[in-house]
Amino acid sequence: MTEKAELRLGDKTVELPIVVGTEGERALDISKLRGETGYITLDPGYANTGSCSSAITFIDGEKGILRYRGIPIEDLAGKSTFLEIAHLLIEGELPKKEEFHSFRESIRRHTMIHEDMKAFYGALPKDAHPMAACSAAVGALSTFYPDSLDPRDDRHIEISIHRMIAKLPTLAAFAYKHSIGQPFMYPRNSLSYPGSFLHMMFSNPCEDYEVDPVIEKAIDLLLILHADHEQNCSTSTVRLVGSSMVNLFATVSAGINALWGPLHGGANQAVIEMLAQIRDEGLTGRDFVERAKSKDDTSRLMGFGHRVYKNFDPRAKIIKKACFEVLNKMGVHSKLLEIAVELEEIALKDDYFIERNLYPNVDFYSGVIYNAIGTPSNMFTALFAMGRLPGWIAHWAELHRDETFKIGRPRQVYIGNTVRPYTPLEKR
Ligand code: ACO
Repeated sequence: MTEKAELRLGDKTVELPIVVGTEGERALDISKLRGETGYITLDPGYANTGSCSSAITFIDGEKGILRYRGIPIEDLAGKSTFLEIAHLLIEGELPKKEEFHSFRESIRRHTMIHEDMKAFYGALPKDAHPMAACSAAVGALSTFYPDSLDPRDDRHIEISIHRMIAKLPTLAAFAYKHSIGQPFMYPRNSLSYPGSFLHMMFSNPCEDYEVDPVIEKAIDLLLILHADHEQNCSTSTVRLVGSSMVNLFATVSAGINALWGPLHGGANQAVIEMLAQIRDEGLTGRDFVERAKSKDDTSRLMGFGHRVYKNFDPRAKIIKKACFEVLNKMGVHSKLLEIAVELEEIALKDDYFIERNLYPNVDFYSGVIYNAIGTPSNMFTALFAMGRLPGWIAHWAELHRDETFKIGRPRQVYIGNTVRPYTPLEKR
């Protein structure tokens, strides 16, 4: 029998069914609340609101747990590959050998973009942020591939998913090449997914970039660690936009824009800029931490804090370790890494951060790796988008498979003027 909670409103009592997730998370089902009582709930920032049921990713923010389809992130990171994870998230299972082979081959077949899209980049200013260019280019995919736009058609869903995964690295690398005035490099399908991306970023027609396996592995790891994070800002955007039945390309374009903000994926660029500022202005870690704490200063310790994690972000632990390994293997000494370590040590012992449960998040160390391998800082968030893509797609696909599917449409509490007459312009 379904457990129920009782809500008393004046002399009326309503019963609210309690929904229990597979990990014991409990939620009050308020879907009939307005119909039965006229009340809605109010939860700015949605910190207490479950917008859907989902079987993709489990997070326990208090215990620092993250699992994709039940598998702990610690087991996946370093053992699997990003394309395997994409399959896991989207299809629900790790692929068997033949499944993986055909998935990977299909992705490889779709890495090129329509030749006319090159002209599209030419119309963008050179200093366009790669996230703006990516979002515009991904949105434009729907103009080039009208044969895969119907989210009610299984074949359209499959082909648009494969196209999206295959083409995003190409679109991101083209955005970078455009910004530095170099010719576009085509994808190299004999290379791995991250390898082909590195080739498109760093090769030029005169000189091949030899993919360093250490860097290739690091990129793959970072993509895996970013692959999904349940109902974060960009994924919720994807679900909301997708719920209008618009195609996958338009939906992902919206997700990219949501990710761009410095409070979300844009934090990785903001972290490296913060570390560089500390280095260039000769500040100490303590100086900056004091600024981040001050109510009179708008600075925040970027890469610290998380809406869900009130304990260590498990991804941050893995990235920190990888950061040391990668820099060590490459023989790189990074002043920025030193500053990051100092900031972390200070913040973790500081009452302000302790009381507010502020720990390093996924973005705190990722930028240091990207930086060390030569990625320009304005490309960091585009790399995050490449990583998050399978998560967005998995949520989009889950939404469309859901029998209780509805367009997303929150309500509000109106606090504006009550009714008043129109005053003609000459009388105002
Ligand atoms: N530096 C200094 N103070 C902070 C920080 C920070 N990084 N993060 C939170 N706080 C403080 C806030 O000022 C607030 O203090 P108060 O209670 O005295 O007013 C308190 O901690 C709670 O912060 P909120 O902003 O209310 O927490 P919320 O859950 O809404 O925000 C967020 C989470 C946006 C991630 C926030 O911690 C932040 O801005 N961090 C820096 C940006 C960042 O790293 N973003 C990446 C997040 S991970 C990701 O999206 C991939």
